[in-house]
Amino acid sequence: MEPTKRVYIQNFGCQMNDYDVDRMIEVLRKDGFEAATSVEDADLIVLNSCAIREKSEHKVQSAAGRLRELKARRPGVTLAIGGCVAQQEGDRLLRRVPTADFTFGPDQIPALPALLAKMRDGRRFAATGVIDVEDYQFLDADPQPGDVKVTALVTIQKGCDNHCAYCVVPQTRGREVSRPAGEVVAEVARFVALGAREVTLVGQNVNSYHAIGTPDGDDFAELLRLVGAVPGLLRLRYITSHPKDFTHKVAEAFRQLPSVMPFLHLPVQAGSSRTLKRMVRGYTREEYLEKLDYARAQCPDLSLSTDIIVGYPGETDAEFAETLSLLERVEYDNIYSFTYSERPDTPALKLLQRDDVPADVKDARLLQVQTVQRQITQRRLERFVGRVGEVLVEGESRHASHQLCGRLPGNEMVNFDRPPGLDLVGQLAPVRITAAGTYTLTGAYAGAARTRLPVVSA
Ligand code: SAH
Ligand code: SF4
Ligand code: F3S
Repeated sequence: MEPTKRVYIQNFGCQMNDYDVDRMIEVLRKDGFEAATSVEDADLIVLNSCAIREKSEHKVQSAAGRLRELKARRPGVTLAIGGCVAQQEGDRLLRRVPTADFTFGPDQIPALPALLAKMRDGRRFAATGVIDVEDYQFLDADPQPGDVKVTALVTIQKGCDNHCAYCVVPQTRGREVSRPAGEVVAEVARFVALGAREVTLVGQNVNSYHAIGTPDGDDFAELLRLVGAVPGLLRLRYITSHPKDFTHKVAEAFRQLPSVMPFLHLPVQAGSSRTLKRMVRGYTREEYLEKLDYARAQCPDLSLSTDIIVGYPGETDAEFAETLSLLERVEYDNIYSFTYSERPDTPALKLLQRDDVPADVKDARLLQVQTVQRQITQRRLERFVGRVGEVLVEGESRHASHQLCGRLPGNEMVNFDRPPGLDLVGQLAPVRITAAGTYTLTGAYAGAARTRLPVVSA
């Protein structure tokens, strides 16, 4: 029998890459691999890359650089680079990272064993394949009992058909394909059967999901209903929503479907309709706000987050001021903010939008956005202090082993002291919030756990 091989994966990027890493592990396990505890005891190292900004791309190259010495010392170790940079750059990445044995795109994950076999020829190669195939087949998750956490991701779509002018994703992930609803529901049920209690449906634009054929065309709202009915599933979330496709019916699900959690990540990118137009986002400031207001009317305690890009080509001081005023108007719970990063072959370049905002202006705008938001986030977190919230307990806190952590329905992270003699992991626990930190909350367990759900068999 061949000795067991060990794989170590370092991941970068978004929810799509997180999902992909778990599939890689499953595929490699069937090929005789088990997880390594560090790069030092790995036979195969995979860097799963992200191409969204220049900095993200650099991260994978520096990670590969740090492995140069290890590769020299242990030439038998294989280094593979997967993910979006691998897909976009192919051979060019192979040339830039001389220590990489091969690169592979996100759609090549099922072929990993074959790629490892091919490597034995001794020649380096880039496996990017064709990403826009007819009848695209999703790779089903095949979790084993020990793998499943309280929260799980389930992909509902690949690729993206939008053409936001700044974005590389349509190139790295190809055309949008919706995963059949039956596969989605079956996968959710598999995770729940193994102990997951919360599922996040993932895609780059979940609102344009279209694999059901409902008469009103709102397939995503219908998918929420179908998934929400999976027995044993306590909480349902989804990322990422695109404002232009986010419908009233999907907003109504916050009120109508008990498992749909009061949390919405609705990336706005900029507060000025003129900037949004240059970004080719497909909505105005006013249309965005109308949808948010409707969602908040459905669910007054909705927690909201967004993505912001500052320093987009042509962004004037006045346009930027509209981003700040939007933050004040909406009062997001949380934001993810970035300076514009010019990406190869994106529509922005073809639209002759030169990266003309100077780096120091971009940095100053980013700082301003983050300063304004820090206070808003603080205020929003403080609204919980003194209240008892329902926390889905995920496990031991990262800060202290005597504490547990979990999230409120709105996705706010709560740390609280472990009550002696109670194993609350996977349960909904009432927790009184006692203090608000910068990004997380602290609380105290407030009574007997309400639900102990049986593990539902598949
Ligand atoms: N599909 C999601 C976003 C995926 S990328 C959506 O449309 O909302 C995550 C975030 O990265 C984007 O929302 C955007 O804020 C940021 N981003 C994407 N391309 C970027 C670029 N070229 N420069 C800076 N930030 C970028
Ligand atoms: Fe990129 Fe726009 Fe697609 Fe999001 S919706 S992945 S920002 S092209
Ligand atoms: Fe990055 Fe690819 Fe996700 S570019 S953001 S890992 S889809």
